[in-house]
Amino acid sequence: MEKFRAKITGIEAFLPEYILTNEELSKMVDTSDEWITQRVGIKERRILKGEGLATSDMGAEAVKKLLKKTGTNPDSIELIVVATITPDMMFPSTACLISEKAGIKNAWGFDISAACSGFIFALQTASQFIESGRNKKVIVVAGDKMSSITDYTDRSTCVLFGDAAVAMLLEVTTEDVGVIDHHLQIDGSGKDFLYLKAGGSYKPASHATVDAKEHFIYQDGQPVFKTAVSKMADTSVEMMKKHGISNEELAWLVPHQANMRIIESVGRRMGLTKDKIMININRYGNTTAATIPLCLWEKEKELKKGDKLILSAFGGGFTWGTIYLKWAYN
Ligand code: UT7
Repeated sequence: MEKFRAKITGIEAFLPEYILTNEELSKMVDTSDEWITQRVGIKERRILKGEGLATSDMGAEAVKKLLKKTGTNPDSIELIVVATITPDMMFPSTACLISEKAGIKNAWGFDISAACSGFIFALQTASQFIESGRNKKVIVVAGDKMSSITDYTDRSTCVLFGDAAVAMLLEVTTEDVGVIDHHLQIDGSGKDFLYLKAGGSYKPASHATVDAKEHFIYQDGQPVFKTAVSKMADTSVEMMKKHGISNEELAWLVPHQANMRIIESVGRRMGLTKDKIMININRYGNTTAATIPLCLWEKEKELKKGDKLILSAFGGGFTWGTIYLKWAYN
């Protein structure tokens, strides 16, 4: 029997116009361009401004651009999988809202919550619907309006995050390209290091939760940093060993963009030179679910059919993992 794989056949992004620089942040909190550049590697990030604009608006714009670029009839899309931790609302899902705004009428869909690992969890999930033979055309959207859960009086978090959304088209192939393998994992014992304290069923929104600023990201950065480096590097090395991929053969490591020092440490641990690592954290910051596909979108023109890519992420939960992907087009 022929083996079906899911291949990426197109990718598009939506980046908000507003650029929040380190200089502007330095006027808002007690920070500096020097600290942010040296400790995190970010120079600027995009922020979605405008009343009533949300993650679904960014996602729908990316989907509309994707459909146009790939010449895809919206009626042919069977499934939309959305990775986000900043859904427009608790329900309905952002997938429902994006499908409506992008004019997709024949699909089903759902959201995936895996924080900074959201994209690789969504890519793997969507791929399995194609590998099973159930679906032929699937859209994955990865997007977050991180500014909606960021406290711009807290210097330890407000310098880190940005807003963006990326959409990609997955189609079926019997060629040896596309999503080849994955190792994904969760560990809830990491829950206390990176989370949103209130607004869910555990602690519903109240005057007290708003006063205590519990609807903003809480992060204990150092344990997250250490675990991120070891999990991203180790799962990437294991994946490469499993498939006999040498560092020379690897076209790109595409790591989650949370901190330049994390990316450099992962690269060092893997013995990779910097020219093999996709990096754009300096211009967009940590856009949570969107970081990895944003790198792929920017490098699309340089990628060649058959290129071996390792995508690796770590995020709140904890969630982490690696996907081995062979790029499918020139
Ligand atoms: O994306 C999902 C996963 N998230 C991550 O992977 C993030 C992982 N963690 C990190 O990237 C880093 O831990 C942070 C960037 C969050 C923080 O960097 P750090 O090197 O771990 O700094 P720190 O929290 O240990 O703070 C060091 C100092 C502190 O001052 P004192 O106590 O030494 O006087 C902080 O108050 O830096 C201070 N600090 C700042 N100073 C200027 C913290 N934030 C800032 C700031 N500007 N924005």
